[in-house]
Amino acid sequence: MDRLIVSGGNILSGTVPISGAKNAALPCLAASLLTTGKIVLDHLPAVADIRTMIKVLQALGCDVTVDKTKDAFELSAVVKTDSLENGKLEAPYELVKTMRASILVLGPLLARFGRASVSLPGGCAIGARPVNLHLDALQRMGAKITIDGGYIVASVPGGRLTGIDHTFDKVSVGATENLMMAACLASGVTVLRNAAVEPEIGDLAAMLRAMGAKIDGIGTPVLTIVGSDLLGGCRHAVIPDRIEAGTFICALAAAGGDIVLERVEPDDLRPLTDLMTITGCGIEEQSERGGAVKRLRVFKDPGVRLRSRDVITAPHPGFPTDLQAQMMAVMTQAAGISIIRETIFENRFQHAMELERLGANLRVEGNTAIVAGPSQLKGCTVMATDLRASAALVIAGLAAKGDVTIDRVYHLDRGYAGIERKLQTVGAGVQRVKGGRV
Ligand code: EPZ
Repeated sequence: MDRLIVSGGNILSGTVPISGAKNAALPCLAASLLTTGKIVLDHLPAVADIRTMIKVLQALGCDVTVDKTKDAFELSAVVKTDSLENGKLEAPYELVKTMRASILVLGPLLARFGRASVSLPGGCAIGARPVNLHLDALQRMGAKITIDGGYIVASVPGGRLTGIDHTFDKVSVGATENLMMAACLASGVTVLRNAAVEPEIGDLAAMLRAMGAKIDGIGTPVLTIVGSDLLGGCRHAVIPDRIEAGTFICALAAAGGDIVLERVEPDDLRPLTDLMTITGCGIEEQSERGGAVKRLRVFKDPGVRLRSRDVITAPHPGFPTDLQAQMMAVMTQAAGISIIRETIFENRFQHAMELERLGANLRVEGNTAIVAGPSQLKGCTVMATDLRASAALVIAGLAAKGDVTIDRVYHLDRGYAGIERKLQTVGAGVQRVKGGRV
């Protein structure tokens, strides 16, 4: 297993290209199942989860061809699904267990073919992560769903899903995406209330509209979808990854310096950038060609101590749970007490124990972490436990004295394309050790 060695103390300077959003690219890939038309997706991030979703599509019988960009940070994919009709339509456990977002093929398969078999994803490091919200709503649309041998076995006895007026018990990004896709080919009108409003939902809706879907209410918690008999192909460019961009903003805050993030959507980053401004970072939005090109300059004097801030994670437009771990690493360097509350997942503080090993002064009580800074972090070996926890350890390493060795960086590779190469381009002391060999 690869390791990263982070040598702290370097001040960051330069430009970082931000890749397409993993959490937008995954539902967009699943949406290709809704049509026999050709789907072309650009700005897919070159990360493990995208490769896994492509394998899931190929396991279902899709024809997927992939082109890498020259910097190998992104991919373009062409997806054709005209040969699935008589296939098994099964998303296998071997793939689903490595990436729970595979559940996003369930809605499109049921809507288009009236049958599907998808392995239950099982829990993951950050929580139980059930899929009841997906299954309850699909059953209300007319799907018959049983659990057999660890698989969700679904069919539509009536032949076609029917539109519903449905209120989700709690805000769920994945359930909103699955049901929005299912509704596009259902008969009649579907209204989804208490829907998630994350930017990735808006990007999926934009792709579905380009395929001919009729969707209103994008960006609001009430989505209205008028079912179509058929959807066409399209070419779609996935939005920039706000979580990758936010991770680099946190890296800058921890290390100090002056960097420019290329291809970002500043509006998607406001929950973080507003907070970072208060803690003592400078944020400058730059745009060219009437907004067609957007950049974000982030700067912080390495000699100036950050101010501590409280953080409460919440569904968008609240502070994103996917930046909580990274923010905790930054707050270990801020002067004062920071109270960090995780309200989305029940076990998303595993990075806290690893930060303590580096010398952070913090305590976890239930879903709340109390961080007392600043702490002088000292290099040692730590273990990555999940995708965003790994990013937090890299950020902590940038501020630590000595080398921080991070094991199990396959977690990082799930959601960050070449993070060590991007950090090296702005002067960070990071190197990857292949397979544990020196
Ligand atoms: C998406 O996961 C993201 N993943 C997650 O990013 C992100 O943390 C999460 O949304 C919240 O923003 C992708 O988009 C691929 P949810 P998802 O359904 O859809 C509970 C990352 O690091 N819930 O919004 O699985 C659930 O347990 C990943 O990139 C149910 O109870 O999240 C959680 O407590 C991690 N029943 C809450 O809802 C359900 O049927 C929000 O989950 C579904 C969810």
